[in-house]
Amino acid sequence: MGEPMIRSSMTRRQFGARVLRAGWWSLALTGIAAAWASVRFFWPRTSYTPPTRFLAGRPEDYGPGEVSLRYLESHRVWVVRGDGGIFAIVARCSHLGCRPNWFAEERRFKCPCHGSNFDAEGRVIAGPAPRPLKRAAVSLTPEGQILVDSADQAEHADAVRDPSFLVPLAEGPRRPSAEAHGRARDEGAAASEASFSGHRWKGDLA
Ligand code: FES
Repeated sequence: MGEPMIRSSMTRRQFGARVLRAGWWSLALTGIAAAWASVRFFWPRTSYTPPTRFLAGRPEDYGPGEVSLRYLESHRVWVVRGDGGIFAIVARCSHLGCRPNWFAEERRFKCPCHGSNFDAEGRVIAGPAPRPLKRAAVSLTPEGQILVDSADQAEHADAVRDPSFLVPLAEGPRRPSAEAHGRARDEGAAASEASFSGHRWKGDLA
């Protein structure tokens, strides 16, 4: 008669321990969930879109007629050295916005979506694209670097008349004079960075 009573009392104790353990677990999980919610709340919601202004090397880095794919993935532009100078073509088809591919042997951009063709200047060779590819603004920094601003775009017809969309080769790369160099040194490194004064650019560099 005594043994079953002992068993029954042990079972009750075990049951109590289990309930206690379950309580601790649920408390711990609630704490973890609350901590995660706090982290999510305070975590900065940063956008990692690539900067629209970037340096694209020097004009002499580009060979005659070169269509460079160097900045295609990162900034969605081709930097091109044409007869008149360096310009940047926006990699977005004027039909429905697909990204054309450059075929160097044929010297054509071909759109994979509906077959439009463009020449190396971005002009339409075959439709259905209604207009040439757009251009992005380019300028030369005092240090002789090409500065591309892919946010500043223009239709081809406007861009070819606007000096903001071409870095001419005839002048050659502009280098800062010794005097300008000295001034920049005096103003310190930070001021030197901010002293880029491409005629369209006033902000920080990418
Ligand atoms: S999106 Fe390029 S041809 Fe249609």
